[in-house]
Amino acid sequence: MVKFKGSLKISGDKSISHRALILSSMSTGVTKITNLLESDDVIRTLKILRRLGIRIMKEKSCWYVYGNGTNGFIEPKGYLDCGNSGTTARLMIGAVSSNPIKCTFIGDDSLSKRSMSRVTKHLEKMGAIIHITKKDYLPLMVSGSEKLLPIKHKIQKASAQVKSALILSALNIHGKTKIIETIPTRDHTERMLKFLGVDFKIKKLGNKATQIELNGPYEIKPKNIEVAGDPSSASFFIVGALITPKSKITLYNVMLNPSRTEFLKVLKRMGGKLKIKKTKKNCGEDIGNITAEFSNLKGINIPSNKSAFLIDEYPILSIAASQAKGKTVMKGLNELRHKESDRIKSIIYNFKKIGYNINDENDNLSIIGKKIKVEREIKIKSFNDHRIAMSFSILNILCNNNLKIDNKKCISISYPDFEKHLNYLI
Ligand code: S3P
Repeated sequence: MVKFKGSLKISGDKSISHRALILSSMSTGVTKITNLLESDDVIRTLKILRRLGIRIMKEKSCWYVYGNGTNGFIEPKGYLDCGNSGTTARLMIGAVSSNPIKCTFIGDDSLSKRSMSRVTKHLEKMGAIIHITKKDYLPLMVSGSEKLLPIKHKIQKASAQVKSALILSALNIHGKTKIIETIPTRDHTERMLKFLGVDFKIKKLGNKATQIELNGPYEIKPKNIEVAGDPSSASFFIVGALITPKSKITLYNVMLNPSRTEFLKVLKRMGGKLKIKKTKKNCGEDIGNITAEFSNLKGINIPSNKSAFLIDEYPILSIAASQAKGKTVMKGLNELRHKESDRIKSIIYNFKKIGYNINDENDNLSIIGKKIKVEREIKIKSFNDHRIAMSFSILNILCNNNLKIDNKKCISISYPDFEKHLNYLI
């Protein structure tokens, strides 16, 4: 019987890797970045920055970024291709908008169906000129300006990408930009800016709302960045160990930012035996080790108020729920419809094929757990979505390898070493 065992240093965090590249490009001098995640999405950001005139090179396992300042992007020739990466598109659209250059962004089929107006409507209010496909999509052209107006933005939809795009834009805007977030989201951009010594204010407004106030333009001094392990990547093996009998694993060097580790709290509430030990602080983020061992999980209700902190973990949480006793209900998943695939649809499609009782009502996903015995081959559709492919690869361990997942190549979007690391742990 296969089980998860041993220990592993998890690959670098995707969100931090994008931000390390972008913010070092906007600083004035050379940054050394270690443990950068070299996944397809992050490489898209890296290549776009090079096309904007930033020198970025690799020596041994370290990356060196030669920043040009917050006003230093050079108008690129041709398109900036974001591939499948929503983070690349949204953050880079924001970053270039306050530079006096024209940029055209394109993406693959999936990214070309994801909303960009959630960022551009704010940039237009500041005076950026945007040409956008069907009012919402890539391809889009940004005519940036160093004279964008410093204004107050209120972000209604919970999105760390939108917030980060506006922060990056504000770094080269003259005067006070205020960004109000009504629902808290991941705060990696703010933490990295603090680490880099950028002077800005974060104010709690009550009722969970927060105001970020920047007073640009800024000169950012470079500081070397070590990227910590990605908790979202760790979540696949953690759930694998929790649902596979006799398993016990330890994952090292995992970033423990509270806006990313909500899934650990959820799994603990489900009865998961998890031990979390903080070991250090690095570049403004807490880092630590996580031990997970096989547990008899139980179904629970997961309320909507923390959905922004669980956004990338719902697919693997649905795998945990499928092995739990009773019913799990995950509430308020609307944003899942707007990810690399419509993840509510992708999860339901595949679980129904395996024979699960799973339903969605008003974007609340409910699944009734049951032990499975799969003795015939079942085709699983990844919908070209890395997190769907990885989630069902974990369930596959309990299915005698009978789940045949299409296009596993898409896993390299966030975790090129996933298969290698999985084979090491089982
Ligand atoms: C990300 C934010 C999240 C997340 C994505 C990465 C980021 O998106 O789903 O994988 O790096 O800021 P939203 O906060 O926009 O939903």
